[in-house]
Amino acid sequence: MPIIRAGPSSICGTAAPIFCIIGAGDKSFHLKIFFSPEKEPMEKLNILVLEDDKLAQKVMASHLSAHNVDIAGDLKTALKKIETGKYDIGFFDLMLGPDDDYSGLKAIQPAVAKGIHAVVVSSSDSDATIDRAYELGAADFYAKGNEESNVGDILRKFVQNRKAAGAADIFTSAFITEDAETRAAATEALKYAPTELPILILGPSGTGKTSLAKVLHEHSGREGAFVSINCSAYTEDLLEAELFGYKKGAFTGAGDHRKGRLLEAHKGTLFLDEIGTMSLNMQMKLLKSIEERSFYPLGSEKPEHSEFRIISATLEDPQALIAQGKMRFDLFQRVHGFTIKLKPLSHRKADIFPLIQHFTKGGKRLSFTAEAREFMENYAWPGNVRELKKFVDLLSSGAGGRVDAEAVKKHLKGQESPRAEAGDGNIYAYALQHGLEAALDRTAAEIIMRNLAENKGKKTKTMADLKISTRLLYATLKKSGFEMEEK
Ligand SMILES: Nc1ncnc2c1ncn2[C@@H]1O[C@H](COP(=O)(O)OP(=O)(O)O)[C@@H](O)[C@H]1O
Ligand SMILES: [Mg+2]
Repeated sequence: MPIIRAGPSSICGTAAPIFCIIGAGDKSFHLKIFFSPEKEPMEKLNILVLEDDKLAQKVMASHLSAHNVDIAGDLKTALKKIETGKYDIGFFDLMLGPDDDYSGLKAIQPAVAKGIHAVVVSSSDSDATIDRAYELGAADFYAKGNEESNVGDILRKFVQNRKAAGAADIFTSAFITEDAETRAAATEALKYAPTELPILILGPSGTGKTSLAKVLHEHSGREGAFVSINCSAYTEDLLEAELFGYKKGAFTGAGDHRKGRLLEAHKGTLFLDEIGTMSLNMQMKLLKSIEERSFYPLGSEKPEHSEFRIISATLEDPQALIAQGKMRFDLFQRVHGFTIKLKPLSHRKADIFPLIQHFTKGGKRLSFTAEAREFMENYAWPGNVRELKKFVDLLSSGAGGRVDAEAVKKHLKGQESPRAEAGDGNIYAYALQHGLEAALDRTAAEIIMRNLAENKGKKTKTMADLKISTRLLYATLKKSGFEMEEK
């Protein structure tokens, strides 16, 4: 039976499929088709092989030819190499000579002590020997004679586990989350970090889309920069100039030439934030530059070439945007290679306190009364993690470290109805004092914030409920203290 596996998107733009044939030792050949991330060659490992038999040495050397391999023919040499060298994995034969009493076991402990992943390879698979090897700290054991599949499996498993351990680190340092679903999704996304596959990050504002994009870039191994552009922050003309750059005099006000973000992201990552707000016209221009990997700066006749990797984000539902004719399907195909959805904070309550710990690291520690905690756990957090961070900043600048429910309510209520100080519903008095426009703004903000809170921060729902544009929603959030861009 052929094994056919494909990556998350077989229509991803830049990840070319690789075909390879495996299982040559078998009766049949298997055709394996896969896309990134397997496309990336496995990182080079430092491997020590303890093996007295010359033929077995050759077999191992050929299976490990993609790595740095050191071979020791006897125990003494192996022990010396363990002491002086630096290895990721050690393959240890146990019977070193015809009458040997499993002296290879003696290499296990010193290897494990030096952090080497010890794998025992032996022709004897008696329970007692296996038990002894595991007792000494061996991580894996397999019987000689099936190196073809065993060695490959062990290396793959090792690399995968090491990556997973690295990922766990991220969740306690750069992208805090204790939520099992979010961790699983982010771990999956991290697997694609070092590939060319485009990544699309969905989720309401403040859920960590930009933060995750940065983490993905940092784990991409790309030599270029992380270049971010918030598509909702520009008019169409300005966005075009920002993305593609322009020549001096290309339009009124173009006093000097300017390098576009596409070029700045050469060999790096282009983060298209709020891609859902881009006009159809701009989407077409962007698509063309992605497909051709080149573009013309405004006013220039010389094409620029740039190898950028795209990560994009939107708080809207791309399928709905496509259905409404607001997003080109072909552009969507180009950007959604791997899609990760970040849930609102109110749906991952397990993250609230770990995030607070993270935000107060190195500063004043906060502790909360039971009642305060309960309020926070049940609060809607319409501004998600961004709102939580702001809340922590406010509390940290306050007096005592112990926070009670009253203090929590005071700060959170302030954010829920941002203009509450303006008057208790006396909009007429407010208009007289600040002008009609300010009063209308305030009313709009109150309606929007109230609806957002009722929808637990789900902005797509609010946009639908109130029939408002993304732009109005953003402008309102901004005025209400929920900045869209991190400072
Ligand atoms: N998982 C997280 N771990 C640590 N900080 C986070 C996390 N998610 C969000 N933040 C912080 O919250 C704020 C908003 O996050 P951001 O990534 O800008 O959200 P989004 O792009 O979805 O609007 C930023 O200050 C960011 O550093
Ligand atoms: Mg963002």
